[in-house]
Amino acid sequence: MNLTIIGSGYVGLTTGTCFAEMGHHVICVDNNTEKIRTLQSGAIPIYEPKLEELVKKNVAVGRLEFSPSIAASIAESEVIFIAVPTPPNTDGSVDLTYIEKVAREIAQALQPEMGYKVIVDKSTVPVKTGEKVSQTIKHYAGPNVQFDIVSNPEFLREGCAVDDLLHPDRIVIGANSEQAMNVIKRVYQPIHAPILETDVNSAELIKHAANSFLALKISYINAVAKVCEKTGADVELVAEGIGMDKRISRHFLNAGLGYGGSCFPKDVINISRTLGIPFTLLEEVEHINDTQHIHFLDRIRDRLWVLKDKKIAVWGLAFKQNTDDVRESIALKLCEKLCGEGAIVTATDPKAMHTAAPILNPMGVKLVEDMYECARDAEVLVIATEWSEYANADLQKLAGVMRNRIIFDGRNILSPANLRAVGFEYHSVGRPSVEEA
Ligand code: UDX
Ligand code: UDX
Repeated sequence: MNLTIIGSGYVGLTTGTCFAEMGHHVICVDNNTEKIRTLQSGAIPIYEPKLEELVKKNVAVGRLEFSPSIAASIAESEVIFIAVPTPPNTDGSVDLTYIEKVAREIAQALQPEMGYKVIVDKSTVPVKTGEKVSQTIKHYAGPNVQFDIVSNPEFLREGCAVDDLLHPDRIVIGANSEQAMNVIKRVYQPIHAPILETDVNSAELIKHAANSFLALKISYINAVAKVCEKTGADVELVAEGIGMDKRISRHFLNAGLGYGGSCFPKDVINISRTLGIPFTLLEEVEHINDTQHIHFLDRIRDRLWVLKDKKIAVWGLAFKQNTDDVRESIALKLCEKLCGEGAIVTATDPKAMHTAAPILNPMGVKLVEDMYECARDAEVLVIATEWSEYANADLQKLAGVMRNRIIFDGRNILSPANLRAVGFEYHSVGRPSVEEA
């Protein structure tokens, strides 16, 4: 099939590339001409495991191309996917400017002689956005243009997006016409996964409800972690114990500094906001998340007494492992607060230095490529992202470069027993601390 993806970011580029891998002909469009030039030159503007090789392979066989023009791309495409950002406004509500703009651009490009088109929303949007997109297209396109709107939400996690796309738990297709439903089912025909067919509003709500529920699990275990810290219980054991119950499951019960990223922070409260329906349970989820890293910072301050002029190293800047994305990263919030209290902060990340630099440089954070050099002479090492490089750190080497052997692990990735053996003092989230040897 011929497909167009509008928006070639973390979601659009990965989705388009996986569609090409499934055998479709795909044009990835973006209004950032610099990004399109980069992609056309064979480079990938983001870090996402497995993506680069798949892009190269599919470009080489002519199934994947890039274009700055919506109008030129959609003429030949049976299906047009919208994957532009839906960022938060300053008050936390969702900014739908890009969706509206793209809907208008599609409408202006559509011509009756192009035949029937299916326009699919991939971006996370408040329920009933599909209706607005439909109205907008009807308004700006001529009366004889034939199209349907579909909601086909994406459940990919950055860092393992390719696997999530090619081997999903389920595919949700929300369509209000059988014709549109059948077109999108053909798109996914090469994928072996259950398909849930719904109406458009239900599909939109499924995405929000799924993200809110996952965020709820994280805040829940972080709240339990606080109880553990007061009582000496171990949150890892508690998570394991409750997660063995299939009704609960162990997934998304990792206590830590809380969730970041471009989805959870804004999706959680926006499930019902535009409808004026209070959802106070999710307000509490958000509150727990907002205060989680502040509580962690309080613990660091308690230990060091004053933070001013103390050298603190931070490992991890991305909002999670295996990505260079720092949107809503808790690590950056932590750096900002440490700098605000006068600490001398050095930081590192395997992939996200270039995305974090514009935010951290003005704060005075020193970015250091090598993780051990970053920790040199530090009084405390803070682990803020769950990279496997940090989980597998050479503790002897680390002990040799730090001024004090003190670690605050905000992602519970190190083993207390290993740290005890090397003589580290170790504090993590919801687990008993390893005190100074
Ligand atoms: C996605 C989803 O689409 C969003 O709904 C979700 O909440 C977060 O994840 P993402 O792919 O992560 O967005 O965003 P980004 O990496 O910023 O990519 C979006 C792309 O769209 C950018 O390359 C941007 O240049 C492009 N864009 C934006 C357009 O092509 N046209 C526009 O009008 C606006
Ligand atoms: C999320 C959803 O998982 C995905 O289905 C949706 O399509 C987009 O939003 P993403 O934000 O890319 O994906 O990553 P995810 O793996 O969900 O992690 C989100 C945040 O939660 C990260 O900051 C991560 O560190 C944190 N997290 C995750 C925890 O703190 N504990 C956990 O147990 C899991």
